[in-house]
Order: sequence, then C-alpha cells, then structure tokens
Amino acid sequence: MIDKIKEIRDEINNVLPGTFQDPEVFRIKYLSRKGKVSLLFDEFKNIPPAEKKEIGKLLNLLKQEANAKYSNLKELLIKTTFSTKENDLFRPSFPVNKGSRHPVSIVRDEIISIFSRIGFTVSEGPEIEDDDHVFTKLNFAPEHPARDMQDTFYIFRISEEESAPEDILLRTHTSSVQVRVMQSQKPPIRTISPGRVFRNEAISARAHCIFHQVEGLYIDKNVSFADLKQTLLYFAVEMFGKDTRIRLRPSYFPFTEPSGEMDVSCLICGGKGCNVCKYTGWLEILGCGIVHPNVLEACKIDSSKFTGFAFGMGIERLAMLKYQINDLRLFFENDVRFLNQFCSSF
Ligand code: PHE
Repeated sequence: MIDKIKEIRDEINNVLPGTFQDPEVFRIKYLSRKGKVSLLFDEFKNIPPAEKKEIGKLLNLLKQEANAKYSNLKELLIKTTFSTKENDLFRPSFPVNKGSRHPVSIVRDEIISIFSRIGFTVSEGPEIEDDDHVFTKLNFAPEHPARDMQDTFYIFRISEEESAPEDILLRTHTSSVQVRVMQSQKPPIRTISPGRVFRNEAISARAHCIFHQVEGLYIDKNVSFADLKQTLLYFAVEMFGKDTRIRLRPSYFPFTEPSGEMDVSCLICGGKGCNVCKYTGWLEILGCGIVHPNVLEACKIDSSKFTGFAFGMGIERLAMLKYQINDLRLFFENDVRFLNQFCSSF
C-alpha cells in the first residue's frame, strides 16, 4: 500500500503543465469516484488496524497534494487562456469606428417624421409596376410623352392573350403607390409613399436614372387648395427652419388640377440672392396639386363627394439643398469619405 501511494505521488508530482491541458482529465484520473486516489481510499478499509495510522496520514497527504495540483492546473488554464491581448476580458475595448446613416435615409426619415406628426401614414408598393398604376389610372393620355421609352425603363411582358399585351416597367414616380392605396382603402386617406424610382436619364451632377421620392396624398370631404398650402408651409418650416417662406407657381401634371410647383426661400442667402438660388432667392423643391377627378373615378372614389391634394418631392434634391452637396452622383458612389461626414446626424 505504501509503495502504491508513493508511486501515485511521484506520478502526480511529475505531471508537467502541458500534460493535462484540460484539468478535468486530471481530476477524473485521480480524484473522481473511480480515480486512482479514491480507489486507494477503498483499499484502506481492508488494511490491518495497526498500519492504519501511518498509512492514513500518507493517504491524506496524497489527497491534499492531488487537490493542490488540480487547482494549479485550473489556474494555469485560466492564465494561458486569458492572458493574451485578444482574450483578456478585463482589457479596455478596442475603439470601434462609428458607422453613419446614408444622407438619403436621414432626409427620408426626417420627411416621414414631419408628416407623421400631422397624421400621415407610410405606404409602400412595388418598384416593378404596370402601366396601369404608373400612368393610365393617373390620367396620362395614351400618347403622353412621359410614357415614352426615353423616360421609362420598360420590361416588356406579353400576356397569355396576345390581344391584350400588358406593359411592365420600373416605376417613374411613387404616385403608383397612391393609386394602390386609393384602390384598396376608403377615404379619408392621408398617406405618404417614400421609395426608389427610375427614369431613363443620362447620369450627371444634376440627374440620375435612379433616385428617391416621397409623395403625399390626402383625400377627404372638402379638402381644398388652402389645406394643401398650409400642409406644405408646415412641412417647409419644420424641414428648413421657422423663417422659411414658400411660393407656389402654376404648373401642369396630368393627375392634378390645378397643379403647382413649390419653392422655398433660399436656404443659403435667405432670399437675398446667391449662386445656389441663381440669384432668384427661391429654390424649387416639389410638385403638387388638387387630385384630378378622373384619377379619383379611376380608383372608384366618388369625385362628387371627395376631393384631395397630392404632392411629390425628390429626396436627393432636398438632401443636396440641406447639406449643400453639388453633385448627385455622390449619393450613389458610397465613398466612405463622403458618407463619414454624416456621422453625427443620427
Ligand atoms: N409625381 C410627380 C413627379 O414624379 C410629383 C407630383 C406628385 C406632382 C403629386 C403633383 C402631385 O414628378
């Protein structure tokens, strides 16, 4: 018995740090119920009483040493695992570069927030649309130039019936979403539709074939041009500051009558005249008007009971004015040097 104790003691003392990378293996081998040390304790029951005192002492010593070794191994494991820089749970964190939101997203969210405060909901719809929702229901005459291939990206689809081919295209404005809302909801309707639109334009500092819009629609009983004007004034003041003035100029859109274009007093010079406003004191920001009765009827809304107004604006254009960006292409290049400048804006 004494020899066995000595043998196991030597074994334990000779354990090198690398031998038991997992201290649990050591514990099982020596200290578990069937471990070498525990088995000696079982044997101890059978030895003659005269030897018990001496051997008991040695056995207890062995157990202590085995436990101490086990603790050492555990400590060593913790040290080696957590001592490298990457694994040190107590080190200060590495600096993390803050991301930034895209200026188009920042301005879009601001527009949504301004209109949601006066009860406008947000509607979305497909970017791949049909001619009916983008043009026909919006009172575009069949020969209207906006349907021309010069402006619209067509994805031709010949329907099963050869006689009724249907044009599928990329939406040129998000008014198509408003058609879908009018078809599926009953007035009162008060909604804005932000989204991506596509026009076949040459890419330059002022134009792009992909850009973003927010269009708005309000339909109820007795909605008038005065409501439109007040809503847009509220928007301009919230967006550009309390001293902002607005001006409406007559315009033409097939889906509104009367139609207008809205200018805001120049954000740079306040209206005195500078090169941003081309010395006019005004900046054009959106199109608007009273929804044409033909549009209401096409969407099965009784135009003798209900009237409404609509407006639409380009998000990139507003972002260019807000941040004084002079080239539209910057929005699509995703150059981090450009994007990083909007870090503090959210
Ligand atoms: N749909 C028009 C455009 O894309 C904007 C607009 C919307 C004008 C609603 C009037 C009313 O340019």
